Amino acid sequence: IRHLLSAGDLSLEDATLVLDTADEMARLTEGRAVKKLPTLRGRTVVNLFFEDSTRTRTSFELAAKRLSADVVNFSAKGSSLSKGESLKDTALTLEAMGADGVVVRHSASGAPYRLATSGWINACVVNAGDGTHEHPTQALLDAFTMRRHLGELAGKQIVIVGDVLHSRVARSNVLLLATLGAKVTLVAPPTLLPNGVEHWPCETSLHLDDALGGADAVMMLRVQSERMNDAFFPSAREYSRRYGLDSRRQALMPPGALVLHPGPMNRGMEITAEVADSARSVIVEQVTNGVYVRMAVLYLMLAGTTGATNEEAA
Ligand code: CP
Repeated sequence: IRHLLSAGDLSLEDATLVLDTADEMARLTEGRAVKKLPTLRGRTVVNLFFEDSTRTRTSFELAAKRLSADVVNFSAKGSSLSKGESLKDTALTLEAMGADGVVVRHSASGAPYRLATSGWINACVVNAGDGTHEHPTQALLDAFTMRRHLGELAGKQIVIVGDVLHSRVARSNVLLLATLGAKVTLVAPPTLLPNGVEHWPCETSLHLDDALGGADAVMMLRVQSERMNDAFFPSAREYSRRYGLDSRRQALMPPGALVLHPGPMNRGMEITAEVADSARSVIVEQVTNGVYVRMAVLYLMLAGTTGATNEEAA
């Protein structure tokens, strides 16, 4: 894998390799039996975050460190990005510092693609979330989590609920789950479904109760209030009533069906605290698994590159 920009770029073989490698990373490091693997010693991973993040930035940092890479964190706040430095000049700076991998989050859809294809840098680029477009490592960690509980995902019924319009998580999940052979149903109010969704490899429904009975997993999406200026949004109370996952609705799910959420959650809006903290919820486990999946992605992208520490180069 040279760059990871879209979940749709992954073939079934690629996706399976990432998930199997993540299994191996978990086996080696779960419970911290082995604290660090030496596989990326001498490589430099730069976390370039133009948008806020808790889970993704932290887990990429932990993943890189557990593979013994050097890690540099750039966020818009506290760097020259906040002074308006361009993506190009930032990229040239990272190149001059010898970055081997750049993990980028940006509010503009397509920014990681621009970075990967511009010729400004030689580093491998990982999309850590670009605008409303894609978040491929989130989809990989979601698939990894579901696979651990449900087995192979081919033929499984996955229901994704809520603010699909603004969700890079939903788009990446639909693409990856289709590749893995799962059946996806998107459930949302009509105003929160994107144009062209009829061409996505999934079903759509407006009625959550009807979709829950056959679900193997239900993934709730965050209502992205900060991006809501371009869409009609009912009141929070009305949204929760029609599209929120509460205990009554959870009881409609088959026994053993999972509840997922990529975080951050609006507790009381798209999911009640009772459901988020229930035995069926794997939301905290998703965060743990994010480290294994990002270790796998960084390993598969960077282990074959020629990064060299000063020590090794000397
Ligand atoms: N799921 C996710 O991308 O969370 P963060 O915004 O905290 O990284």
